[in-house]
Amino acid sequence: TVYDCSVIDVSKVHNDAGNITVVENGHNIPFEVKRIYYLYDVPSGEARGGHAHYELEQFIIAASGSFDVIIDDGINKKRVSLNRPNLALHIVPGLWRELDNFSSGSICMVLASHKYEESDYIRDYNEFMELKK
Ligand code: TYD
Repeated sequence: TVYDCSVIDVSKVHNDAGNITVVENGHNIPFEVKRIYYLYDVPSGEARGGHAHYELEQFIIAASGSFDVIIDDGINKKRVSLNRPNLALHIVPGLWRELDNFSSGSICMVLASHKYEESDYIRDYNEFMELKK
């Protein structure tokens, strides 16, 4: 459910010359990372996502700028704003998600538990709702 998703502070190493944030398998992420991808140059007003996954788990990080993630388990919906590079939204499998409110120049970095597989996607909301019954 959406209540299994949380914003995790993956912490940062700070000094006068700036910050560094580390995400390391077996340390501060609850799954093994198999793939990293990032969204950028999202035009103002656009939304992304609009699908669910059967198996995929994700860490979603605003590496730059800000955006919102709306997660939906078929019963409850939650809007989470991400705006700091040390905060990661953990999305568990089986949730519908949408991303919107991208700030100009924002970068949405995604750490994923599996390689890309189109068969893991549910892209039809009615089909998603049927599966949740
Ligand atoms: P999609 O996951 O639908 O994007 P978003 O959820 O951000 O709106 O992917 C968009 C396109 O990119 C789709 O044609 C599949 C392709 N794609 C890959 O080839 N590999 C990947 O790892 C990802 C995430 C997407």
